[in-house]
Amino acid sequence: MAARILMGKEFAQKFKAEAQKGAASIREKYGVTPGLAVAIVGDDPASQVYVRNKHKTCEELGIFSQVISLPATITPDDLMAQIDALNADKRIHGLLVQLPLPQHLRAYEGKILERIDPLKDVDGFHPVNVGRLSLGKPGLVPCTPLGCIKMLELAGIEIDGKRAVIIGRSNIVGKPMAKLLLARNATVTICHSHTQNLAAITREADILVAAVGRPEFVTADMVKPNATVIDVGINRLAPKKLVGDVDFAAVQEVAGAITPVPGGVGLLTVAMLMQNVVAAAKMQLQQTQ
Ligand code: GUN
Repeated sequence: MAARILMGKEFAQKFKAEAQKGAASIREKYGVTPGLAVAIVGDDPASQVYVRNKHKTCEELGIFSQVISLPATITPDDLMAQIDALNADKRIHGLLVQLPLPQHLRAYEGKILERIDPLKDVDGFHPVNVGRLSLGKPGLVPCTPLGCIKMLELAGIEIDGKRAVIIGRSNIVGKPMAKLLLARNATVTICHSHTQNLAAITREADILVAAVGRPEFVTADMVKPNATVIDVGINRLAPKKLVGDVDFAAVQEVAGAITPVPGGVGLLTVAMLMQNVVAAAKMQLQQTQ
């Protein structure tokens, strides 16, 4: 039987509506509009599309948005001075630096991300928030894995007691996804480029998350019948052809539920960013009461 297709748009609309409601209630209670600042360095075309989308979604939901476009030649010190100014700016409750950074800044990426006030770190990349997630304490959580978890919950897909396998160990998706699933009592395995006998492991998964960055890497023989398959990959094969990390056509015949690409979890990331901005604003305003 063909799988249930989990359409990102339906879930993203719900999550955005929640963020809009949250922003309105903050405005009512504190007389403050939640605000997001996005710093973009250089002119990477994909990053420009993502940033424009973040700005547009803020405007739709009643969130103040500021895009700070910085030249690719900026020095690490000047970029950190920009972050300091945004950390101190009362209109800004959420702050992120769009990745990837230009080549000459990549060695400083950790230092740059650590400069962001953890209370404003709506990407959830600061070591304070990474630590909080590891300890199961409340904090700001990376948007893509958070969106995946909320989607599973809203779709009524059981996590507790299930076997979850994640392919990919990135700080943005793989590792935080593992922690979120573990916090919901899944038995979690992270696979990566050195994993031996990968297909034998993925075939045990009730929930399989693909975040490898390799087009159609997950084939039908790697999937347990009736499993839930979440495809976090976005691979551009041609100017207008996007595919995920999962061979969708074949895997949908085996899986119980599956996210498509495009139209899957990619849409959840911006929706969860909006929720993180609202959550960050709430935390900051409660602190100043
Ligand atoms: N580039 C691709 N995804 C992301 C993300 O979630 N946050 C940031 N800052 N940059 C990205």
